[in-house]
Amino acid sequence: MNAVSKITILGIETSCDDTSVAIVQDGSVLVNLISSQWIHQKYGGVVPEYASRFHLESIVDLYEMALEKAGIEPGELSAVAVTRGPGLLGSLMVGLTFAKSICLSLDIPLIEVNHLQAHAYSLFIEQQPVFPLLCLTVSGGHTQLLHISEDHEIRLIGQTVDDAAGEAFDKTGKLLGLPYPAGPEMDKLAKKGQAVFSFPPAQMPDYQYSFSGLKTAVLYFLQNQLKQDPEFINSNLEDLCASVQKVIIGMLLNKLKKAAIDLKVKSIGIAGGVSANSGLRSELQDLCTKHEWKLYLPSIAYCTDNAGMIAHLGYSKYKRGAFSDLGINALARYPIV
Ligand code: KG4
Ligand code: ZN
Repeated sequence: MNAVSKITILGIETSCDDTSVAIVQDGSVLVNLISSQWIHQKYGGVVPEYASRFHLESIVDLYEMALEKAGIEPGELSAVAVTRGPGLLGSLMVGLTFAKSICLSLDIPLIEVNHLQAHAYSLFIEQQPVFPLLCLTVSGGHTQLLHISEDHEIRLIGQTVDDAAGEAFDKTGKLLGLPYPAGPEMDKLAKKGQAVFSFPPAQMPDYQYSFSGLKTAVLYFLQNQLKQDPEFINSNLEDLCASVQKVIIGMLLNKLKKAAIDLKVKSIGIAGGVSANSGLRSELQDLCTKHEWKLYLPSIAYCTDNAGMIAHLGYSKYKRGAFSDLGINALARYPIV
């Protein structure tokens, strides 16, 4: 096959606070560059105005770097796949406008990608799963239990009614004095601690999740303990992290297990930023081994926000001719189904 007949997709992701550009050729990821914005740490959460400004500052450099690293000329690009939503409107608009301008200048099609679909389909980047499959998408903005059929059709089985699992890590971590986003740091500290403190898991019907009560429970617990010992957090940080992480993982896996048994699904996957959590990955591995379920775990690079998953889903949409009009707008809310 010569270079001209290859399908080469440029992927762009700017939905939140990671600017990412990737190139996928004939289904394989050639480059997946991610620039995380550390400015938000100073404020303990994402500041939307800063997020869009930093996307604007880094997107052109990332694009040029991606082409150079992949050894691809702009003229070889077949299409541009870009996150249309859900996400922060100003951030999405930077990526979408940049994608449209490349499409216009190179006269190639635009492919819109739903960020949540891309997280779920990130399971297919490195492996060919057996269907039907249950995918637990756990990110900073969403917690969704999805049933994916043999023809890749997604059915939403359950989701959170309030905070997302990533928010639970970030908000409880903030109470413990960890920098934003607290998830990765809590993961590291939890490895060194014991889950000696118990926090009540939310009791929700069916396959629904709720995480907002955990933050309140941790807040009241800490307030009480700090009255008796002002050094309580510092002297118990690792055990506190292990305890909070344990209850979040327990809630996530209970519903996943119930859904797999009820729906008789034997293939399980996890996606989204929280799927990088080492405790979640190892407990899920044990659960799947026990039940003889096949587990699909994406590499860490494809867990958190990345354009590789956008370009990869863009590649399959390209093959179906699923192109978008250049007049489309960014969507802050964009349901997965
Ligand atoms: O998918 P993602 O990069 O962005 C969204 O679409 O939201 O997910 C970001 C979330 C943050 O809440 C972050 O704390 C969490 O994923 N996260 C983790 C870990 N790595 C990232 N949470 C727990 N353990 C980790 N290792
Ligand atoms: Zn995401």
